[in-house]
Amino acid sequence: MRIAISTGGGDAPGLNAVIRAVVLSAHHRGWRSYGIQRGYEGLLSFEGVVPLGPAQVRGITHLGGTILGTTNRGNPFRYVMRDADGKEHETDRSEDMVAAFQASGFDALVSIGGDGSLQISYELWKKGLPVVCVPKTIDNDVSGTQRSFGFDTAVSTATEAIDRLHSTAESHDRVMVVELMGRYAGWIALSSGLSGSADVILLPEIPFDIEKVIAKIRSREAAGRRFSIVVVAEGARSKDGTVELVERRGVGTVDRLGGIGSKVARAIEHFTGKETRTLVLGHLQRGGSPTTYDRLLALRFGAAAVRAIADGVFGIMVGLRGSGIEQVPLAEIVGRSKNVPLDCDTIATARELEISLGD
Ligand code: F6P
Repeated sequence: MRIAISTGGGDAPGLNAVIRAVVLSAHHRGWRSYGIQRGYEGLLSFEGVVPLGPAQVRGITHLGGTILGTTNRGNPFRYVMRDADGKEHETDRSEDMVAAFQASGFDALVSIGGDGSLQISYELWKKGLPVVCVPKTIDNDVSGTQRSFGFDTAVSTATEAIDRLHSTAESHDRVMVVELMGRYAGWIALSSGLSGSADVILLPEIPFDIEKVIAKIRSREAAGRRFSIVVVAEGARSKDGTVELVERRGVGTVDRLGGIGSKVARAIEHFTGKETRTLVLGHLQRGGSPTTYDRLLALRFGAAAVRAIADGVFGIMVGLRGSGIEQVPLAEIVGRSKNVPLDCDTIATARELEISLGD
């Protein structure tokens, strides 16, 4: 058996652990593994396919990023080409991709990616590509799995940042607004905001009323708490559209979010008169060494992906359900992102701890 491995979309801590588990589990069965570099681009150019054996994956479990490189511009169905005059346009290169896969003599592809990669893998599977997916994203918004690897590390980083902001916010009697990643899901903001004792947490799932945010800050002030920590998910938006998220679309790329934190901060400063500063934690949430939880989950996912191939099961994603890893058909999950359920106990906990969710 010849197994190809690709990592697509934004990187996440734990990618290298998955790669290592796939390579070693395949080696254990006497199979060979190959890494496709920079998402699917390596395969489309025939120049980015590298053999991976135990020696190539030694000592990488704890390393952030991906040894294969990645891109969120490598969608073969919307491949970005440049004209002679430098203008970009999209073209469908999925047939080239399947042909390149077959020409390379691969028997299976392990595709490690988030929402976008899963969608691409599903379409490629329908075209005959034997694919098994592994859910990766710090956003934790992939359905069919309780967790994607990378999320726990991002939440730990964000929680530590919020912890550190407390002392400086309190010393200066300031409001600190922290903008966190997560796209259109509030998992990172909710988990780290609650763990880091934020006073306000704004999520994409709960459109906020800026007056409620201001009321919370004023009530803290009245109680002698002259500083506040406001956590804002990058995909959060206000009820009436007065404080909107900033979004940009580009050819062949995914939506780019960011900017809501400074808008919320400006509104708070304007209405409360309190000095308000913004921190955009950004890509720090994606960097660094994966936590123990993410390493273990990533290793389990990688080994489970090879087990699925050994079972001859394709067109699936390995997902965490309860305490075990299951095979989830891609058809059941693509196009369905997983948001924070409004009736979950974490939301209830935040409310019972009198954290404002801006509603
Ligand atoms: O999906 C992971 C993620 O980090 C999101 O939270 C964020 O919106 C996006 O990727 C940023 O992508 P890029 O690295 O392309 O700016």
